[in-house]
Amino acid sequence: MFIVFEGIDGSGKSSVIARLKDNLESYGKKVKITVEPSKGEIGSYVLTKRGLNPMTEALLFTADRSEHTEQIMRWMDKGYIVICDRYVGSTLAYQSAAGIDIEWLKDINSEVAIKPDVTILMDIDPAISLKRVNARGEKTRFEKLKYLKRVRDAYLEIADEYDFVIVDANRDRDSVARDIIDIVWRVLHASV
Ligand code: TMP
Repeated sequence: MFIVFEGIDGSGKSSVIARLKDNLESYGKKVKITVEPSKGEIGSYVLTKRGLNPMTEALLFTADRSEHTEQIMRWMDKGYIVICDRYVGSTLAYQSAAGIDIEWLKDINSEVAIKPDVTILMDIDPAISLKRVNARGEKTRFEKLKYLKRVRDAYLEIADEYDFVIVDANRDRDSVARDIIDIVWRVLHASV
């Protein structure tokens, strides 16, 4: 089982993922949490390197995904539920918002990615998410309000085509986490 979380910076993915993991493990499931960009060499490089142009970033995020997907498949073969914080949707949304042709991004990603059992889009107003990010004291090059608005729009545009389940992440964390745990259990029951 492969579960993906998508959403703009500050949408609350990490805290929900941690709670989902606890819930699944309390019912005896084996869970692996992973993230993109990955902790591998390409992923670490693209996350820390400044000044790359958007095309190079698109290629590097996708190359990282190519390696990471093999690892994800190995975990699934060992019986893990793999929860991935960001996947194809992030490249489609962030790099198209940075000016790269979305059809080309879809093409190259269709060569490297597998289809998740469910992708949850944590949809949030960028003004609210930015407040959360700034409260954490994090400032990265991806955190401009106008840019995040374009990223959010891009996510919503591809939501149907990529079967995203959209969750309203503007709400309090308990309600969001409860909804997501319900969604995942429905997918789990449907898959047996
Ligand atoms: P995060 O660790 O807070 O999720 O930050 C990773 C940043 O990398 C985030 O701003 C989104 C960006 N990103 C892309 O632009 N494209 C991608 O394909 C991925 C995986 C991440």
